[in-house]
Amino acid sequence: MTRVIAVASGKGGVGKTTITANLGVALSTYGEETLVLDADVAMANLELILGMEGKSVTLHDVLSGDADIEEAVYEGPGGVKVVPAGISLEGLRKIKLDRLENALSKLVQNVDILLIDAPAGLEKDALAAIAAAQEMILVTTPEVPSISDALKTKIVANKLGVEIVGVVINREMHDKTFLTINEIETILEVPVIAVIPDDPEVSRAAAFGEPLVVRNPKSPTSNAIMQLAADLIGESYQPIEPDKKSVIAKLVEGLLGRRY
Ligand SMILES: Nc1ncnc2c1ncn2[C@@H]1O[C@H](COP(=O)(O)OP(=O)(O)O)[C@@H](O)[C@H]1O
Ligand SMILES: [Mg+2]
Repeated sequence: MTRVIAVASGKGGVGKTTITANLGVALSTYGEETLVLDADVAMANLELILGMEGKSVTLHDVLSGDADIEEAVYEGPGGVKVVPAGISLEGLRKIKLDRLENALSKLVQNVDILLIDAPAGLEKDALAAIAAAQEMILVTTPEVPSISDALKTKIVANKLGVEIVGVVINREMHDKTFLTINEIETILEVPVIAVIPDDPEVSRAAAFGEPLVVRNPKSPTSNAIMQLAADLIGESYQPIEPDKKSVIAKLVEGLLGRRY
């Protein structure tokens, strides 16, 4: 049975697209047939993070009735399958969101896991993306407004019968003014399944169109995402330690001419 998981949040800009892209690549590297679909049709950017912009057929064409969903599937980094939304505003005009469910029913035939990058908020587009999934990963930053909006999304997901797998806290900064994991679990009544640090490498990777788990697999951020992917499918994962020793060895050899 294919798992259809929406990656959703109440507030925008909390890291849904970043997490969908990297989690999709991570799950593929574990051998799961994984497809990531950009359902944020108005503010699409999954294709930018994966370095896959400019594809000829996108979800815009599918939801406009001009193409079949199979024509909009592309191979991405690490073998993850990708359905880009299309970033042109032109493409938005003819979209009918009720075509999404039918499109997804065709996609699930060939994959183990389908991750949906959902739009923020609770407008029609967000509801369509959430309702199309059986499970949801709720993304939030540790700030109060983000948690408060996440709570609304959680309540709507419950009403739609979508199971919440857990909360991912993104952009953790060890700042005393932010909420703790315990406080977040108490407010949302959902377990925290990953804590991802605030990491300037995330936006650098995005600028290069290369997912962080590929570009910098040893970073704490990539390790947190690989661990989350492993937990989702019941695999074990050994974090990759940064190669500190080899850096020191090179320094000693270069400066002192002897082996470290
Ligand atoms: N862990 C992180 N550390 C630092 N910046 C991040 C992190 N996660 C996301 N960002 C940045 O935050 C912005 C919004 O992320 P994005 O994934 O597009 O959010 P959303 O899809 O929820 O709108 C982007 O500029 C992204 O590079
Ligand atoms: Mg997004």
